Amino acid sequence: MARLKGKTAAVTGSSSGNGRAIALALAAEGANVVCSDIRKSTRDGGYEADADQDTDDAIRADGGTAEYLDADASKAADIQAVVDRAVQAFGRLDVMVNNAGILPAPHTIVDETEEEFDRVMLVDCKSVWLGCKAAITRMRRQDVVDGTRGRIVNIASIGGLAGLPMAPAYSTAKGAVVNLTRQLAADFSAERINVNAVCPGFLHTAMLRPLLDAPELNQALHSATPWPDLGHAEDVAKATVFLASGDASWASGSILTIDGGYTAR
Ligand SMILES: NC(=O)c1ccc[n+]([C@@H]2O[C@H](COP(=O)([O-])OP(=O)(O)OC[C@H]3O[C@@H](n4cnc5c(N)ncnc54)[C@H](O)[C@@H]3O)[C@@H](O)[C@H]2O)c1
Repeated sequence: MARLKGKTAAVTGSSSGNGRAIALALAAEGANVVCSDIRKSTRDGGYEADADQDTDDAIRADGGTAEYLDADASKAADIQAVVDRAVQAFGRLDVMVNNAGILPAPHTIVDETEEEFDRVMLVDCKSVWLGCKAAITRMRRQDVVDGTRGRIVNIASIGGLAGLPMAPAYSTAKGAVVNLTRQLAADFSAERINVNAVCPGFLHTAMLRPLLDAPELNQALHSATPWPDLGHAEDVAKATVFLASGDASWASGSILTIDGGYTAR
């Protein structure tokens, strides 16, 4: 039984990696999906099967329903347009996945410029704040259906739970996303809006390709991960679908690690 039949979901950064796998997985569970990104096609260097097919096209080819919107998740007007599109096209926003993000090349704070810090905070943190703000503003006006007015899933990182070596701005931003998730759960659980986060570990996506292709860094990522393999976007997508569905109806402010045990030790 499709867990999201008739629901409407919006995903930021849906063209590649986690966002694409999430959008495909939500659609496979029956959701209408509003895809959004700053580029419609997949990033070079990714690990997607059939990367030459855009996410919304792949969903439709599979018999699902999808729209695509060019939207920079760090811009308020663009995020609002994503929420508006969901409502205009499908009447409601049931699920908002704030996934878009960037990871700068490894460096310590000594070599991080203020411009880099500001950029990472904008794309990895403020974008989530904007997505939550627009989604919650809409959701709290919606009727309760199947026990909720709407569910939000923020894609954070193990960098939000532990200091990720050589990633000062990224860890700052992701830590903020984790605590924003808890804060919003504190404010909006009473209104039956679920806000939860996924904290992935090291995954095979274009974002990590430069590290995975460097033998020493690849070894370091494996050594830091208790599980013998690194993760895949589909692992994050399964956790996201869980939090977006009625299976997680009482989950609120939950921070779900999907990291092969990275944060367990
Ligand atoms: N790859 C990992 O190992 C890993 C681990 C933990 C968390 N994450 C998080 O998962 C999320 C997705 O990462 P990924 O690995 O799929 O990366 P990716 O680079 O493969 O894909 C990111 C997508 O986001 C889009 N994007 C970038 N900036 C955007 C913006 N301002 N507005 C809208 N879209 C934008 C890109 O165009 C791309 O399609 C990020 O938040 C990332 O921090 C990734």
